[in-house]
Amino acid sequence: MPAIVVVGMQFGDESKGAVVDFLAEWADLVVRYNGGSNAGHTVVAEGSKYKFHLVPSGAARGRRCVIGAGVAFDPEVFMEEIGALRDKGKGVDVLVSLKATLLLPYHKELDASLAGESLGTTRRGIGPAYQDKMARVTGLRVKDLFSGDFAKKLRKVLELKEAELRRANVLRGNLEDYYNELLRRAEVWREFLRPFIGEDHVEVNEAIARGKLVIFEGAQGTMLDVDHGTYPYVTSSSTVAGGACTGVGVSPLAIDAVLGVCKAYTSRVGAGPFPTELFGSEAEYLRERGGEYGTTTGRPRRVGWLDIPMLRYSSLVNGVGYLAIRKLDVLSGMKRIKVAVAYEIDGEEHRIAPPYAEEMSRAEPVYVELEGWRELDWRSIVREGWESLPEEMRAYVEFLERELNVRTVMVGLGPEREMTLVAPALSELLGSLAGVRI
Ligand code: GDP
Ligand code: IMO
Ligand code: MG
Repeated sequence: MPAIVVVGMQFGDESKGAVVDFLAEWADLVVRYNGGSNAGHTVVAEGSKYKFHLVPSGAARGRRCVIGAGVAFDPEVFMEEIGALRDKGKGVDVLVSLKATLLLPYHKELDASLAGESLGTTRRGIGPAYQDKMARVTGLRVKDLFSGDFAKKLRKVLELKEAELRRANVLRGNLEDYYNELLRRAEVWREFLRPFIGEDHVEVNEAIARGKLVIFEGAQGTMLDVDHGTYPYVTSSSTVAGGACTGVGVSPLAIDAVLGVCKAYTSRVGAGPFPTELFGSEAEYLRERGGEYGTTTGRPRRVGWLDIPMLRYSSLVNGVGYLAIRKLDVLSGMKRIKVAVAYEIDGEEHRIAPPYAEEMSRAEPVYVELEGWRELDWRSIVREGWESLPEEMRAYVEFLERELNVRTVMVGLGPEREMTLVAPALSELLGSLAGVRI
């Protein structure tokens, strides 16, 4: 019953899409369990660039995909995304959970008018949609779209939300007109969605029971988790590995391994503490070389050195046993590379990041410096295999492994699918779980 959770260990954009796409070669099912179209997961393969927001990254290989109950599901984004996949000639095999929260147009408008400003959200309606889910009386699910009394349910929700929608200037005219317009759009979503809806808990548990390889694709990153991240500078869902269980309806006992994804440095989009943040020319260098602009919003990402206290925290709350390190190629050409190994906060040393915005924003990183490596022909390094990694890069990887007590299964040396260099631990992981030989 091989099930692996792929989880972001930093502030999102660690390259989870590239990792999931790589592993999807052997997977039977790829499952999203949290977040919504705030996610932007990039896959570069076979001359195409995919930017997945709702559809799991397994779709680039035409794998069966599931969008789980924990997702805030925007039918309009889904329709666009499925359309784009079909335009690329891709077969689309996706199940959308009936339990998923419906994210409606007014959630996006509310997001733009409220939290967007102070938190720097993606304005995809995430906070307002989860707010309604938790409130229950104002929440709607995919299943409601298919119930005979959807119109009645929607009317009740709009009546309850009218004051809020007017205050935020989302609703300007007549409530009845707004309601009728939404009903009209809902009709289109319903017809489009009909062939996709189903029961995520049945599909995923059956696949696991039949010994299929299931990959859970986390969205965002650990430090953006609503409970465990740098609250309030977080997203509104459970981004950590445990979210895979609650977000789909599988037992924690069904998860065999947690694979943490970390970028070789750190990036963050939006507001919130960032202890190792760089400014000036070093930041420019990383941002330009790494193409650090948001997949969903196009915003320049804040960048900084690798932060081990944060990764130790992340490792702890996710139970990370295996590591994928991406974008090592981006650091090429730097003479020395700094890595934070501890924080000093109010004169005290912390080896594990305290996950509180106030403390994190006062953290002074304690750095060590590691040897850099020069630019090489990474394509031939990938071809020649793990043993051909330059010494300094190997030292960087091994340093991280030692500090986090994890095993590296792959490193990324470029955005394209074929630029993933497999480490020996990947064969062990997939071999022991799924009998896969690489
Ligand atoms: P995600 O949200 O975690 O899936 O990450 P994003 O797709 O938002 O951002 C990662 C970016 O880095 C994308 O543009 C990827 O194509 C790119 N990328 C992934 N792995 C590598 C790598 O190893 N090297 C380089 N240079 N780029 C990479
Ligand atoms: P992927 O899956 C990076 C950030 C936003 C903002 C905060 C709250 O591609 O890694 P939200 O719209 O969720 O209410 O915004 O979270 N954020 C992300 N940052 N990658 C993401 O997703 C993100 N999804 C949300 O920038 O700071
Ligand atoms: Mg992203």
